[in-house]
Amino acid sequence: MSLLRDQYPWMTAGDTTYLNAASTGPHPARAVARGEQWLALRAEPHRISIPHMVDAAQHAREHFAAMIGADSTEIALMPNTTYGLNLAARGLPLRPGTILTFDGEFPSCVYPFMALASRGVGLERVPANEAGLPDEDELVRRIGRGDVVAVVVSWVQYASGFVVDLARIGAACRAAGAFFVVDGIQGCGVRPIDVHALGVDVFASGAQKWMLSPWGTGFVYVREELHDVVQAPDVGWACMTASADYAWLTNYEYEFLPDARRFEVVTLAYHDFGVAVEALACMRDAGGPAAIGEHMATLGDRIVEWAQGRDDVRLWTPAERERRAGVIALVPQDLDGAMRRLKAAGVVCVPREGAVRLAPHAYNTMEDVERALDALGG
Ligand SMILES: Cc1ncc(COP(=O)(O)O)c(C=O)c1O
Repeated sequence: MSLLRDQYPWMTAGDTTYLNAASTGPHPARAVARGEQWLALRAEPHRISIPHMVDAAQHAREHFAAMIGADSTEIALMPNTTYGLNLAARGLPLRPGTILTFDGEFPSCVYPFMALASRGVGLERVPANEAGLPDEDELVRRIGRGDVVAVVVSWVQYASGFVVDLARIGAACRAAGAFFVVDGIQGCGVRPIDVHALGVDVFASGAQKWMLSPWGTGFVYVREELHDVVQAPDVGWACMTASADYAWLTNYEYEFLPDARRFEVVTLAYHDFGVAVEALACMRDAGGPAAIGEHMATLGDRIVEWAQGRDDVRLWTPAERERRAGVIALVPQDLDGAMRRLKAAGVVCVPREGAVRLAPHAYNTMEDVERALDALGG
């Protein structure tokens, strides 16, 4: 059983078992067809009306908002995750103090915040626990220390697949008056989330992985109350109210758009967002994050059960469903040998931080998982 397999005829016809959505999500056939239409139009730009472009962008904002429980007015389209994290790093009014993150985070949660040292804002990495996973107890303890101005974490850790308890960290941030910034890319689209309820201030995600969309598409959510508070480090023309009339752009009235579009600085990749809209519609039609997440959890259960029954493989991802999403990380005794066997069997996955990272999605079947486990087991 799978939810989206009909959109991927090459997966059924060929010898490839694709378990690598945590790196790059493959486009559904519907999105590919939509992309061909957009490219044909883009070749003759006079055939694309401005409302067609504006609608593609707006539909993308609406889909992203629906994925995370936000209002579309709180969504700014971005080319990736890192831009949104930079908006938080450089745009939030951070007084001198400490930003906390986990050691082992993806570098986009680290470098943009390390870059604030000259402003007297230091980044502190909380060491992992003995299982090599984020130490939430220690993070929460440090948030209460008094000097913490912000916390930045990935919702789902890119290598271990550990799902962070955003509710707990969000509550600690609120109690301490610290901003809460989340890198959502490894969970967004395949697990339900309500950013309002969790007290997230900024949530950034590219759409190129689990949201099956083109490179160069993504978004940042900025909580409505912060729209006037975040000082956009980049300013352009597209973010201004005065730019609504393309025929008359030079009155230079310095007034930002009233919603999160104020953070969209430049001409957007309309055709790519058009493809993203189709991919996101496909995911919605398959039942959205709840149904997709349930399917993936079932595939994950099998990997967990398999790994727990062996002594030559360590399960790095937590076994409990609520602590894992799409990434299941397994540490074999012989990583290189395991990767060679997987490749020889046509299984596409990658090694990360000493582990094999399996990343099945809605289009994968239990047979796909068994093929990977057979290869892994040798
Ligand atoms: C947690 C996390 N953040 C960010 C990224 C990628 O960032 P961007 O979308 O800016 O390329 C990745 C990609 O591997 C990731 O795993």
